[in-house]
Amino acid sequence: MTQPLAPTVALKNGAQMPRLGLGTWPLDDAEAEQAVATAIGSGYRLIDTAFNYGNETGVGRGMKASGVPRDELFVTTKLNKEDHGVDEAQRAFERSAGKLDVDTIDLLLIHWPNPQQDRYVDAYRGLVKLLEDGRVKAIGLSNFKPAHVDRVIAETGVVPDVNQIELDPTKTRAEVRTYLAEQGIVCESWSPLGGRSDDLRHDATITRIAEARGKTPAQIVLRWHMELGLVTVPKSADPQRQRENLALFDWSLTADEVAAITALDQGGDVGVTDSEEFGH
Ligand SMILES: NC(=O)c1ccc[n+]([C@@H]2O[C@H](COP(=O)([O-])OP(=O)(O)OC[C@H]3O[C@@H](n4cnc5c(N)ncnc54)[C@H](OP(=O)(O)O)[C@@H]3O)[C@@H](O)[C@H]2O)c1
Repeated sequence: MTQPLAPTVALKNGAQMPRLGLGTWPLDDAEAEQAVATAIGSGYRLIDTAFNYGNETGVGRGMKASGVPRDELFVTTKLNKEDHGVDEAQRAFERSAGKLDVDTIDLLLIHWPNPQQDRYVDAYRGLVKLLEDGRVKAIGLSNFKPAHVDRVIAETGVVPDVNQIELDPTKTRAEVRTYLAEQGIVCESWSPLGGRSDDLRHDATITRIAEARGKTPAQIVLRWHMELGLVTVPKSADPQRQRENLALFDWSLTADEVAAITALDQGGDVGVTDSEEFGH
């Protein structure tokens, strides 16, 4: 059964990005092919992958197997630290586009800033060239702190479309969200359900709201991301949970419910992976 499509958000460089899509880590090629095909069949139009996930081939096959025309789908992929450089980014594009078997990539992200390597600005210059050449429709960052984003903008004069960051009700990242909104950069949450841990889905506040509304805990958390104006990419390989996670767009949370969920924040960057230290 096909559900209503997720609404879209207009990106700075003109592309329309669906507000909710399918995450694909840690699926392998075969699993990704299956999961992507069923998700698109249920109404998903945004798919999130990365060179690092090792499943771009499967994602591309799933997109084709879905039967939905390429121009109705939005695929995001990400390049690794070995690809930080102008020429390296072109090669990364060719490699990922080849695996996905697409001519253009909708959104290409720098997966992690790897500041100790100090090459992310050159990687971004490479993305700008791909954008100018029409090979990608939108460009962006992932796991970049405001200081990293500031530097990218100051040194290139081009504002990224998206920054994809770790964000859930226990890590609400208020300062980063405010900063990105001021810059007109779309904030996209990864691990929106708290990743593979069940803690968030068993949280007392979440389950209370879920029971009161006849929704599942995952739906309450994902709708909270929507109320905050975010884009997000929950991962599920299960067709029923995929449909559940997309069934968010004919109801909403009250301001009090949003505030109660936001109050689960642990404060500061507690629990957030530190991109000064970690990255690939
Ligand atoms: N940019 C980055 O550095 C970065 C880092 C990590 C992740 N990501 C992206 O973000 C995506 C999402 O993050 P994530 O996969 O870490 O975590 P997540 O989406 O928060 O959670 C995924 C987990 O929740 C389960 N799940 C999903 N829907 C559910 C539901 N309705 N009810 C109960 N359980 C449910 C999934 O299991 P089932 O599959 O069994 O349903 C899976 O174990 C990734 O897949 C990836 O595309 C990006």
